[in-house]
Amino acid sequence: MRVVEIIERKRDGAKLSKDEIDSIVLGFTRCDVPDGQMAAFLMAVVWRGMDDEETALLTDAMVRSGERLDLSRFGRVVDKHSTGGIGDKVTLVVAPLVAACGAPVAKMSGRGLGITGGTLDKLESFAGYRVDLSTAEFLAQLGRIGIVVTGQTAELAPADGLMYALRDQTGTVPSIPLIASSIMSKKIAAGARAVVLDVKVGAGAFMRTPARARELARLMVAIGKAHGLEVTAELTSMDAPLGRAVGNALEAAEAIETLRGEGPRDLREVALAAGAEMLVYGRRARTREKARAMLESAIADGRGLAKLRQLVEAQGGDATQVDDPTRLPRARDVEELRAERTAYVARLDAAAVGLASVRLGAGREKKGEPIDHATGVVLRATVGDRVAKGEVYAEVHRDGRPGDADAIELVRRAFAWRRARVARPRLILGRVTSR
Ligand code: URA
Repeated sequence: MRVVEIIERKRDGAKLSKDEIDSIVLGFTRCDVPDGQMAAFLMAVVWRGMDDEETALLTDAMVRSGERLDLSRFGRVVDKHSTGGIGDKVTLVVAPLVAACGAPVAKMSGRGLGITGGTLDKLESFAGYRVDLSTAEFLAQLGRIGIVVTGQTAELAPADGLMYALRDQTGTVPSIPLIASSIMSKKIAAGARAVVLDVKVGAGAFMRTPARARELARLMVAIGKAHGLEVTAELTSMDAPLGRAVGNALEAAEAIETLRGEGPRDLREVALAAGAEMLVYGRRARTREKARAMLESAIADGRGLAKLRQLVEAQGGDATQVDDPTRLPRARDVEELRAERTAYVARLDAAAVGLASVRLGAGREKKGEPIDHATGVVLRATVGDRVAKGEVYAEVHRDGRPGDADAIELVRRAFAWRRARVARPRLILGRVTSR
């Protein structure tokens, strides 16, 4: 079968067969299909879409492009994945909490892309933290301490790594079948029995509307179920950043604060909701209410924080930074933004804050660029908060880059103000589950 004919068929809106999908995906992984043809195929999918059956076949081909781990000897291993947002440090809170409550957590995370942050970059704020564990190290650590958070190994769903890099360069990321197959191929290959997906919705997310987010969630749950996984997708708001910190070390410090019981309400809420699902899937609790109480007690008695410390230490990181987050990287200078008049925060544009953090060096303009772990933004006020004239509503942590002034302006403009009281937005917008 000639690859160009497959591309033409998708371009013209045809439904592709298993053989056609296998031949383009597996051919691309073997380097038999060049980037140009794969890019054209991806663009055809963006425009023409894929139905559920084609998306399942695409996911399956991506899983078969590499190895599939079998974690069954570790019990009911659970995983979580976020579709990506601004200030989303939920994994740093929920993974240790769930592991501390007895459910093994094995997670392969990603780096920040575009304006969205990545868990690996946040974890690398701990000096020495390794995100390149081999499969043998991954399995050994999971057996030893019941938690592992590392980068994806080259052997797992390699088609996704290659396709994602090309999508990033060719404007072909925002497509529901491509996002669903990308995420689910990694989750299936990584071997957990159950996955909790956090599908972000809003101005700072790939999915701008609840309807599109629900469609993505439904598709991912269906794909997981067809591969024998239990899956729940929670739709959570990403109009404003999650929590108060945006930027790697700032977010690591906020995760520690949350594990100490002192973090922001919205972060705690999203973490507890995901964690409760994970504990039910891990068969550690019968109901989400009981699971939530277990997680709350692991915060109150410090077991969650101790588990984070153990994770950081096991992966070569400096655990004293968990004990004392002031030892995490710090920016040279903090610019404080003060309110010109007393008002309520009516809107806080997550995308603008995400872009500001990229300008400050906390994210990448291009894949593979080094980042600055110290810089970022702290939002001292969020939607619904009242700020008095002269009070600080945001801090910009900067290290003296050309983009700093731009970043400060972006943060200033990210806030919309109103004199009248503003209601706090809803955080959890819906659930789609395989149960
Ligand atoms: N996250 C992924 O892993 N893949 C996508 O396509 C989008 C977000």
